[in-house]
Amino acid sequence: MIIRPRRLRKTPAIRAMVRETDLSVKDFIAPLFVKPGKGLKDPIKSMPGQYQFSLDMLVKEVKELWTLGILSVILFGLPDKKDSMGSRSWAEDGIVQLAIQVIKKHVPDMLVVTDVCLCEYTDHGHCGLIKHNEVDNDATLDLLAMQAVSHARAGADIVAPSDMMDGRVEAIRNALDANNYQNTGILSYAVKYASAFYGPFRDAADSAPQYGDRKGYQMDPANALEALKEARLDLEEGADMIMVKPALPYLDIIRRVREISEVPLAAYNVSGEYAMLKAAQIKGWIDGEKAMLEMLLCIKRAGADIILTYFAKEAAITLQS
Ligand code: PBG
Repeated sequence: MIIRPRRLRKTPAIRAMVRETDLSVKDFIAPLFVKPGKGLKDPIKSMPGQYQFSLDMLVKEVKELWTLGILSVILFGLPDKKDSMGSRSWAEDGIVQLAIQVIKKHVPDMLVVTDVCLCEYTDHGHCGLIKHNEVDNDATLDLLAMQAVSHARAGADIVAPSDMMDGRVEAIRNALDANNYQNTGILSYAVKYASAFYGPFRDAADSAPQYGDRKGYQMDPANALEALKEARLDLEEGADMIMVKPALPYLDIIRRVREISEVPLAAYNVSGEYAMLKAAQIKGWIDGEKAMLEMLLCIKRAGADIILTYFAKEAAITLQS
């Protein structure tokens, strides 16, 4: 007798009935780049369809995203000036702080997540404070904590540290609590690899390190057990949610982290993953829409509950139609 799995694939109705994973607009967090100025919606060359927004244009975009059913955005800032400490990252009138306020004013129910890191704000482009030619872990923690508190003060719902310093989740949790922001959540980039797939983002956010690389703090792509250790540590330190980044070359890591954690798991479908698909689509080499939905679905199937993706808006439009 032949066993016939094809019976369950026979019609759209039966396929829909037995489908194990569903992609929804509620799964997405849309990354947005914000910069000083007025009336700006500057295209990002290496990420077709993505822009750097000034505050007024950002509001328009966020309203559109909300109308499409997207519940959350994550903000990245391009500051007016950089220095060795990244001091514009915790300024009350910093670009991200202003962006949070303006979003909360015009689209109050949008869940606002902020990326907490120094690399966009330091003149050397590293994610921490440089001392004796090295990224100094413990000195960086205070600066990250100040940045996180300033985001909370501006109205951020969730802060998302992406720097990969040791102990930063605990440092940020303590600082938030000490300043009466007990209800501000932490989505930690717990498992973040030193990846070539961040290339387009570093153009978009002007955050490439001016010398060296990030291998002294971001993880080695060869390691999986270390991912479990990083995830456990951040959970112990009080992360409300954790993230694996990048997504597509790391689906095995998403699955393994999913299996050891009891909090919502996010995956970051990063800039390089977006750029590759867009490039092939523009060349007419791939059906971009179908490939996009397949990518996102497979990230969920691997175990992610939440997907940070530059496709958020496009996927929302496609899922609606
Ligand atoms: C900041 C940060 C980066 C990304 C998110 N937060 C860049 C990096 O670590 O170099 C990458 C996001 C993407 O590639 O889409 N540290």
